[in-house]
Amino acid sequence: MTNLSINEKTVDTILVLDFGSQYTQLIARRVRESNVYSEILPWDISEERIRSINPKGIILSGGPDSVTNSYTPRIPQIAFDLNIPLLGICYGMQTLAEQMGGQVVSADHKEFGHSELTVSTDSILFSDLDKTLNVWMSHGDQVQDLPDGFELVASTATAPIAAMQHISKPIYAIQFHPEVTHTEDGKTVLDNFLFKICKVHADWKMDNLIAQRINEIKEQVGNNKVLLGLSGGVDSSVTAALLHEAIGNKLVCVFVDNGLLRKGEAEEVMNTFKENMSLNVIKADSEEVFLRHLKGVEDPEQKRKIIGRTFIDVFDSEATKIKDVHFLAQGTIYPDVIESSGSESKEARVIKSHHNVGGLPEEMKMDLVEPLRDLFKDEVRRMGVELGLSAEMLNRHPFPGPGLGVRILGEITKEKTSILKEADHIFIQELIKADLYNKVSQAFAVHLPVKSVGVVGDERRYAEVIALRAVETVDFMTARWAHLPYEFLEHVSNRIVNEIEDVSRVVYDISSKPPATIEWE
Ligand code: XMP
Repeated sequence: MTNLSINEKTVDTILVLDFGSQYTQLIARRVRESNVYSEILPWDISEERIRSINPKGIILSGGPDSVTNSYTPRIPQIAFDLNIPLLGICYGMQTLAEQMGGQVVSADHKEFGHSELTVSTDSILFSDLDKTLNVWMSHGDQVQDLPDGFELVASTATAPIAAMQHISKPIYAIQFHPEVTHTEDGKTVLDNFLFKICKVHADWKMDNLIAQRINEIKEQVGNNKVLLGLSGGVDSSVTAALLHEAIGNKLVCVFVDNGLLRKGEAEEVMNTFKENMSLNVIKADSEEVFLRHLKGVEDPEQKRKIIGRTFIDVFDSEATKIKDVHFLAQGTIYPDVIESSGSESKEARVIKSHHNVGGLPEEMKMDLVEPLRDLFKDEVRRMGVELGLSAEMLNRHPFPGPGLGVRILGEITKEKTSILKEADHIFIQELIKADLYNKVSQAFAVHLPVKSVGVVGDERRYAEVIALRAVETVDFMTARWAHLPYEFLEHVSNRIVNEIEDVSRVVYDISSKPPATIEWE
């Protein structure tokens, strides 16, 4: 029997019982990568709920607690009663061992990082793998005595019982983390559990997830209107497309054109969403008010604050014109959840901050709709493709909330904004033409607060300086300046100086992060 029913289709489900590990979402993600549906539930979820999803197997996640203390999380009895395959990972292994009569001790020293695992017993979990594996460990406790009915499967130098299995039941446990990429062949270990032990079918796809999220959105918001701040970035764009599929014109998007966007960006967003996809989008033309508030301000932090506050004012004044909105949608994705607080609470709360918006007024009490909350960036992009968003839109480099405001050093004026937009546009156009755009993680131009002397024909030109910045990074926490070809830089520099009269010089930023940051302000 199968369980999850989406549009008459049913798919096998793997339950991930969460004991609080920072990697729990990663386990679910790896299962999804193998086209198997997984659901994460807290370890103390009710027996009825577990029965209702009828899992084909249960993965017990890691967690920060120690089973050597009383009152720490335990596996619910129902997990054993269902007689389905179980895989304990790290804390999941320790509590499994302890609950089945084995012994867990606090090791003399905690083990973090790479370790060599030696597999000593045949196990389906390790089929098609070498007998030695490079695995990633992160634990303080470890199993000292096997529980009754279990046999040793693998060890490391410091963890003699690093993997174990039941001799007659499909119960397996491993001390290392197969879900992190640092564990070589971790994916094979998980796939062995899914396909050889749980015998699930790989019949779950991105369109199932879209159908499921649409059902959930409909269930949550009913016939009510939902408000969304649309920035044109990947996350808010995919959220908009998904909500539109779910509730059509009950979705009201507000797009704030603050004049600090890239060249052509406002038109592109409006074209995509309003003209082509018929979304209900209100464009708030607010360049003037932003420039007025920013007049004479040079300090970067003050500029950021003013931009954030003005954004809220504009958004708020547009939102209050729309009657009867009780829901606010946000394009929060999983890395945002970890970065902000780790709070998984979905209860209604006063909205204090928005990733890109910067904060909404205290009195705006709305329930949140966050349909991408458990997804990773590349999964959001794949969902966007399925929803019909263009590859150009989905693969665009990140753009900071304060926009060009942090790329014009010193006071922001309309003239500087126009110059920067043109220079940035030339740089980006050329990167695309040279097939370099997707090879760098982020690229942009910066307007510097200095002038320099140049010569054009026989004329002296005393004009603006533009810096070009391009970086390569995986997570934007650290970055290396991109080693773009000299000929390419020369060509871009020539175009900028020749085509923009107000620019006399172009420089290339060769600082990495750290110690520099990616943006200049
Ligand atoms: P930094 O300059 O801190 O930038 O190295 C790292 C990444 O974050 C982006 N960034 C922002 N994004 N609001 C945003 O939504 C902001 O205030 C903001 N500041 C920086 C930056 O473009 C880079 O991708």
